[in-house]
Amino acid sequence: MDDSEKLKEAVETLKNGGLVAFPTETVYGLGADAANDKALERLYAIKNRPSSHPSIVHLASFDQLSHWCSEIPDSAEMLAALFWPGPLTMVLKKRVGVSDLLTGGQNTVAIRMPAHPTARALLTESGLGIAAPSANRFGRLSPTSAEDVREEFGDEILVLDGGACQVGIESTIIDLSADQPRILRPGMILESSIEVALAGLGLHMRPGAADTAPRVPGSLPSHYAPAKLVHLVETGQLEAVAKEFHNSGRKVALMCFAKPDFYIDLVYVMSKSPAVYAYALYRNLRKLDQSDVDVIVVERPPDELEWAPILDRLTRAAGPRDLEVENGT
Ligand code: TXA
Ligand code: MG
Repeated sequence: MDDSEKLKEAVETLKNGGLVAFPTETVYGLGADAANDKALERLYAIKNRPSSHPSIVHLASFDQLSHWCSEIPDSAEMLAALFWPGPLTMVLKKRVGVSDLLTGGQNTVAIRMPAHPTARALLTESGLGIAAPSANRFGRLSPTSAEDVREEFGDEILVLDGGACQVGIESTIIDLSADQPRILRPGMILESSIEVALAGLGLHMRPGAADTAPRVPGSLPSHYAPAKLVHLVETGQLEAVAKEFHNSGRKVALMCFAKPDFYIDLVYVMSKSPAVYAYALYRNLRKLDQSDVDVIVVERPPDELEWAPILDRLTRAAGPRDLEVENGT
């Protein structure tokens, strides 16, 4: 089957209430017609995702926003002009009739316009709003290639192959539904860039991450965790920590910024550019999950703005695991 036939099949599948995995520039999404409750039920069932966890609606054009949102504030117009299509998700007040399955029963809906050409083709050809969480089973790493998706779901799902995701971690989520805009999930569109844009409208960001209930599953401490134990370690402690694990008989993988001058089982030297690091992050964690290493020791990136989204994912990967079981992240 060539690409255009496959795209046609994907459009038909979605229109018939089926599921399609597709590439975006951040991670692969598992898509369903956002206006079809049966399709959404199927989506949540296959992901093992509790229905209280809302999904992002992906759209092809800004004009479609009014089908889903009751109000489009100036801030949304401004951010869309600057960052859409791209890795930014906006939470807005939902329109009456937008399914509770999509919003987890909240009065807001999350919207994103992805930039990946295959995602855009699927959205344009189908004309649908496509609900798409990351195409992994609940609590696992987001997939950044078509092979990753097949590894999650086998042949159960039609997968459009759009190569490796260029951004590599999930979109930035900003809540624009209240008076003060607020970042709910950091991503490669940085809070600082958004802040500058919104200041032009006289708006100031509310500091701090999500407060209450699990509106964002990503805000649970252990979300995005690989199966292997991850330790996030300051540069000065790397050698001691890695050697301690090694000497206790465990096979250690090190993800660090420079080739170490001591022996360790496996080393990934990571880029000092946040964009390149993000691209490699889930890919490497996934590889290590499949390898026979027991422990992943990660050198802590600098506490700088550009590293915030990466530090967020690493902190969660290294977070406490008991919550993971309890909350099923
Ligand atoms: O980059 C991405 O955003 C990828 C690609 C596929 O677009 N999608 C993604 O979806 O990461 P998911 O479902 O894995 O994460 C979406 C996040 C969840 O943490 C969810 O709680 C949050 O968006 N979310 C969705 N609707 C929301 C709402 N109305 N209010 C607050 N958070 C919401
Ligand atoms: Mg996800």
